[in-house]
Amino acid sequence: MKTSLTGIKPTGTPHIGNYLGAIKPALELAESYRSLYFIADYHAFTSNHDPKSMRSDVYDVAATWLACGLDPARTILYRQSHIPEVFELTWIFDCLLAAGQLERGHAYKDAIAHGESPNAGIFNYPALMAADIVLFDCNIVPVGKDQKQHIELARDVATRLNHLFGEGTVVVPEIKYEESLLVPGVDGRKMSKSYNNYIPVFASAKELRSGVMKIVTGSEGLADPKEAEGTTVFQLYCAIATPAQANEMAVKLKKGGYGWGHAKQDLYEALEAELGPSREKYAALRADEKALDRILEDGAVRAREISLKTIDRVRRAIGLR
Ligand code: TRP
Repeated sequence: MKTSLTGIKPTGTPHIGNYLGAIKPALELAESYRSLYFIADYHAFTSNHDPKSMRSDVYDVAATWLACGLDPARTILYRQSHIPEVFELTWIFDCLLAAGQLERGHAYKDAIAHGESPNAGIFNYPALMAADIVLFDCNIVPVGKDQKQHIELARDVATRLNHLFGEGTVVVPEIKYEESLLVPGVDGRKMSKSYNNYIPVFASAKELRSGVMKIVTGSEGLADPKEAEGTTVFQLYCAIATPAQANEMAVKLKKGGYGWGHAKQDLYEALEAELGPSREKYAALRADEKALDRILEDGAVRAREISLKTIDRVRRAIGLR
């Protein structure tokens, strides 16, 4: 059985963009792969130095994935910070990567281009991510296109390690890009925490509805025929509804007599039908941090059965054993 692995950076309450773009596809993959999904808390530490939000963001993410259907008996769910071998392999990779490769990293390069002085964690971010991946004999990494450079660097450094110290020392990961599902936020730009245009996955029904009603639309009158394609309401509806339902909405808009308010109501109902049933589950999971800790600790024990073997092979190969 092949292994699928992905990291989730805890940066605030997960939103519908995360749900449709990352959580749902990763949970579908977990059906046919051995899956390891982890909370990349030390990646978040490159930018979050607030202990309070760090603590709660990690629980928000864990409870969200569990409420959305992650089965911890089947998927190994853990925190990156619980796996000491990750940091050892990061150092080994740091010594195999050219500094120039890390200098070309998007996040680091952008920060420099904006005249910021990024911390060395931003610089080393891709090495840490490569260690996350390679440590677990992972075959595929389901990620969005924005992570392409990072995965390529992981493949590169894994290949180099094998080349220098023995073929087969580590597994070179493949990449699996998610169909870059465009999930717009209420203002039409990509749904993102930084644009503050997002709707949380487990907002109350009332908040969900008011979030949907805030979506910016055209100003055609009720009777006017409307073009669905390219509008935020319709894009979001496509991401949640079946193709037949989406087609039906496009036809109704085109015909006229069906307003943007109606379309938003239909979008709200589709979101509510999908997320509403898990809302209470989320609240119960999120309220019991000790139970979440137990799930994450159990995941770390199982994850380390793999990581300890890999790091042992690597240590021997490089002459540190
Ligand atoms: N960098 C990823 C992001 O920002 C998170 C991440 C960390 C990750 N380690 C990973 C993703 C390993 C895939 C595999 O979303």
